[in-house]
Amino acid sequence: MKITIDNIEVEVQEQETLLQIAHRLGKKIPSMCFAEGKEHKPSCMVCMVKNAANGQMIPSCSTHPTEGMQIVTDSEDVLDLRRMSLELLLSDHRADCEAPCTTVCPKGLNIERVLWYYDTNRYSEAKRYIAAVFDLPNIGCDDCPKSPCEKVCRRGMVDQHVEIREIVRKMSQAPDPEPDDRPLPTGKAKMFTSKLGHFSAKEKEWLKVSTDVPSGCLHCACAAQEVCKLRKYADECGIKSPRYGVSSDLPFKVKKHVIGRLWFEPAKCIRCGLCVYNTNDGFTFKGRGFGMQVVIPDESRSHVSEEIANLCPTGALYLED
Ligand code: SF4
Ligand code: SF4
Ligand code: SF4
Ligand code: FES
Repeated sequence: MKITIDNIEVEVQEQETLLQIAHRLGKKIPSMCFAEGKEHKPSCMVCMVKNAANGQMIPSCSTHPTEGMQIVTDSEDVLDLRRMSLELLLSDHRADCEAPCTTVCPKGLNIERVLWYYDTNRYSEAKRYIAAVFDLPNIGCDDCPKSPCEKVCRRGMVDQHVEIREIVRKMSQAPDPEPDDRPLPTGKAKMFTSKLGHFSAKEKEWLKVSTDVPSGCLHCACAAQEVCKLRKYADECGIKSPRYGVSSDLPFKVKKHVIGRLWFEPAKCIRCGLCVYNTNDGFTFKGRGFGMQVVIPDESRSHVSEEIANLCPTGALYLED
């Protein structure tokens, strides 16, 4: 059978999907709820294409070709629809990609990382990282008197901002780092970052007790910031913040330990179903419609393996460092 994709005539097999055919031709089509060779059900609508033969918009990940199709992958209306799908996903996504302290640091220091080293007693790694960022590590933050990082620190919304400057000073004066030839974290990319509003009273109470770490840091940044498909596509579409506001009332930063190094953060789940359809009785959907959530019943944890984190298109499932 023959169809056209962006006016290119192509011979296709009826069991192929439009997404597979388009990829074969080197076309780029985003997809969130699809993973090659895995069970999936179309839900995200980010992979939409148009059949110009009848004007229909169709999900390419789950539509097979039929004779005479004239598929368009990159027209304005197709891109608008994909963008709208992404904005809808973001509107139900209560999370942040980067910690605000790091975003405003004029030196480009990944503050959240330094505080993570501090909270996990990795002074040597912290000192090595600080030395790579500052020209004069012993001076550190001392020539940055306005402390923009402390002004935007989210812990301040809960009670008291994290003493970032003091902790950076302490880390930079730690004993010399042990030799280590592992690569240092790369500089941060200026990319899309989802916006988070104020904390609810309930969240503040929860954050106070759940972030009882030496620095007091909430560790705002997302574990998936470098690999998240939602962030990557939002950035490619030029989305600055969700058009529809944020409707999710799932609490920020509530995370649940699954097994081993695997953690689950429900507020970052887009309910794509990949974890549900690809674990045997592990994850499951609870509820219906807008209130639907992914859950992991306690008795099902042993059915889950850490590898499932690689299937998750967002930071909802991740492996702790
Ligand atoms: S899951 Fe993606 S979009 Fe959401 S906070 Fe993390 S990196 Fe940002
Ligand atoms: S709580 Fe931690 S990560 Fe969040 S803004 Fe404050 S210092 Fe940065
Ligand atoms: S946890 Fe990840 S893989 Fe599972 S439904 Fe949510 S977004 Fe999809
Ligand atoms: S990737 Fe096709 S509907 Fe999600």
